[in-house]
Amino acid sequence: RKSTMSSLQSVYVTRPDVDVSGLDLLRKSCNVTTWSQSLPVPRDELLRQVQGKDALYCVLTDKIDAAVLDAAGEKLKCVSTMSVGFEHIDVQECKKRGIRVGYTPDVLTDATAELTLALLLATNRRLFEANKQVYNGGWKSWAPMWMCGQGLKNSRVGLYGFGRIGQEIASRILPFKPAQITYTTRTARPEEAAKVNARRVDFDEMLCLSDFIVICCALTPETKEIFNAAAFEKMKANCIFINTSRGGVVDQNALYDALHSKRILAAGLDVTTPEPLPLDSPLLKLDNIVVLPHIGSADIETRKEMSRITARNILAALKGCEMEAEVI
Ligand code: DGY
Repeated sequence: RKSTMSSLQSVYVTRPDVDVSGLDLLRKSCNVTTWSQSLPVPRDELLRQVQGKDALYCVLTDKIDAAVLDAAGEKLKCVSTMSVGFEHIDVQECKKRGIRVGYTPDVLTDATAELTLALLLATNRRLFEANKQVYNGGWKSWAPMWMCGQGLKNSRVGLYGFGRIGQEIASRILPFKPAQITYTTRTARPEEAAKVNARRVDFDEMLCLSDFIVICCALTPETKEIFNAAAFEKMKANCIFINTSRGGVVDQNALYDALHSKRILAAGLDVTTPEPLPLDSPLLKLDNIVVLPHIGSADIETRKEMSRITARNILAALKGCEMEAEVI
């Protein structure tokens, strides 16, 4: 594969509304074409537009598989996604063809941890349910036990996943004075855990003893639907389940059953299967759930920097240089 920039190289961007600062970086040295609408590019259009491109700038709604790489052809040197998650990209296929894959870790860690805390607090203190009462006449008077939730204080919080985002979530939970933070991961992270007083426990212990379970792992074949009926069955009746990672980690029908039967207390989801969640989804009929539309990293500065990193990853790959963040 050639990595010289003799003539202008071409990049296809699958969204027109990624921050202009990222697009401007690309436009300085590349021919940039973008999809025209603020919705996922249709598959046939992607297959057409990617032909002959040197790089592809994509987002998490684009499935980048062998068919897309075939359609792109020999010139494609880089696929760069504006996300930390890259399960939508067939990385193996890219590797086979010598195509480098860029992503945007780190920059969105704080924004995602912040949103996770917001979702956790909205769920455990029943903010959306309570807010509705203000508008629908349900608020009759202050009442001793009305709209009570379950505080984080003295609770046991189990983090499933303890990477960058999990660690930042833990450090934000700490000021709420939990009794114990635990984490469940394949490999122990004693130094990081010591900073937030977290203890490593196995999956079963986390399921059986946590008052809050917070999912902050990547979606991989190992984590796919790991939160299934058997897992919900083991949880405490007061357990609050929070997911800001990927909907695919959860068997959503099992979650519905657990919430509907009050097997667990409540759930807060920023991610679902599918996205968007259909308006007739039974989940939306429940009182004990808060659903957000995948806004974990949706902080203005974060999204702008994600746009620039995605662009810089492409520029580096096209020059044959080290990328800021490469999936290896
Ligand atoms: C990611 O980056 O993978 C998030 O889900 C969206 O920012």
